[in-house]
Amino acid sequence: MLPKRRRVRAGSPHSAAASSAPPAARFPSVAIYLAEPRMGRSRRAFLTRLARSKGFRVLDAYSSEVTHVVMEQTSAQEAICWRKNMDALLSSCPQPALLDISWFTESMAAGQPVPEEGRHRLEVAEPRKEPLCSVTMPAYACQRPTPLTHHNTILSEALETLAEAAGFEGNEGRLLAFSRAASLLKSLSCPVTSLSQLQGLPHFGEHSSRVVQELLERGTCEEVEQVRCSERYQTMKLFTQVFGVGVKTADRWYQEGLRTLDELREQPQRLTQQQKAGLQYYQDLSTPVGRAEAEALQRLVEAAVRQTLPEATVTLTGGFRRGKLQGHDVDFLITHPEEGQEVGLLPRVMSYLQSQGLVLYHQYHCSHLGDSAYLLSKNYTMDAFERSFCILCLPQPPRAALEEPLHPCPTQKAVRVDLVVTPNSQFPFALLGWTGSQLFERELRRFSRREKGLWLNSHGLFDPGRKTFFHATSEEDIFRFLGLKYIPPEQRNA
Ligand code: UTP
Ligand code: MN
Repeated sequence: MLPKRRRVRAGSPHSAAASSAPPAARFPSVAIYLAEPRMGRSRRAFLTRLARSKGFRVLDAYSSEVTHVVMEQTSAQEAICWRKNMDALLSSCPQPALLDISWFTESMAAGQPVPEEGRHRLEVAEPRKEPLCSVTMPAYACQRPTPLTHHNTILSEALETLAEAAGFEGNEGRLLAFSRAASLLKSLSCPVTSLSQLQGLPHFGEHSSRVVQELLERGTCEEVEQVRCSERYQTMKLFTQVFGVGVKTADRWYQEGLRTLDELREQPQRLTQQQKAGLQYYQDLSTPVGRAEAEALQRLVEAAVRQTLPEATVTLTGGFRRGKLQGHDVDFLITHPEEGQEVGLLPRVMSYLQSQGLVLYHQYHCSHLGDSAYLLSKNYTMDAFERSFCILCLPQPPRAALEEPLHPCPTQKAVRVDLVVTPNSQFPFALLGWTGSQLFERELRRFSRREKGLWLNSHGLFDPGRKTFFHATSEEDIFRFLGLKYIPPEQRNA
């Protein structure tokens, strides 16, 4: 004898279908998954039994077969986020309909799936409730504006710490991955409040996403905190901050057990002249240079250049040109409107600055502009320009009498200054190359090479197919040759 319930149904108009086919076959195009989070386990079990008893197919596990996800008391934003997380676990991306429980109860009442209307759907609210900062974010930093101040500082700083730490370990791939993810956050026009906003954006791999998720949920990220507190990171940061010390040298010292600047000072025979100067002026050089100081230095350098070659110009580049209020150094480009006039200029400028007592240290590099290997170099740190890495002495304005200091007032401050001389024809390329940011430059060169097949550096833009250089009279020209929208300096803070 059939159980009671089946006997009742056997008498219904659908008796043939209901009794001959398994319940799952009644509505073959519908496979329901009841998402548990807000529903609770026992209610989910009850609803599952109810639906199956009416011939609906309800799947216990989420899979690519699911066509209808039903949720209770869940916002569209949460629902979309949930589905993205679930889909990430599947090899295919089924994108089932996200439906409110109202669709389910109406379907149960009707004894068949009711049409899905707007009021049932959880995803209709997506564009309105969760405005994505930008759905189409270009992959290269040189294709999008990046302002100096932005909406995601906590997130970008955390990722930049991981990038920096990766750089200390010589892991270039990881450094770039974290730098690109951080830079992307700087380009967004609104704060990220949910991980789902980053779905589909380039450069957000599993690791960066995890860091962002932890920061959004807890306010801190354990991995980042561990890095920041580690002896390795702190020591590498301290050593690489010394003028003339790169990652390789800092790493060697660390491996040898050195940890402090005093320990370095105790071994002067191991230090280059540059590093000795770096340690001597460490305190001043590790104090940020302000914009007013950069401008004061510009006046000093301009006076020296005017003395030497009146028509030559001095341009402030680097971070200050991007609008930064502080920097670790000051970068100047020197050129002359008449090509060739700039040759031999720098030693005379340096002599003049020295005669004024303004040079604490300097290292002169002669020009390699005659060497085509340099001109075709794809290495962004290697320029052939005549240049001088200096530590200049910036006289400090006297303090007002009222704020009479407890300590003697410093009368000068040591500042790192780079002076670079360029022939006029290369000036736009040098200006673009020295304005930065560093990541913006790397991305610009990578874009040129990979997307356009052209080689860009601070000397020019080369077409290896035609073996010709492009002639540019402005930065705008270079962006145009590359088929890029012009990005002004203050939007190059990638
Ligand atoms: P900086 O290292 O001076 O950085 O290089 P910055 O952006 O001005 O920031 P802070 O405030 O000083 O720390 C400026 C630009 O010059 C390029 C870098 O790639 C960067 O884009 N540069 C720097 C070179 O092309 N060659 C170099 O030898 C040094
Ligand atoms: Mn700089």
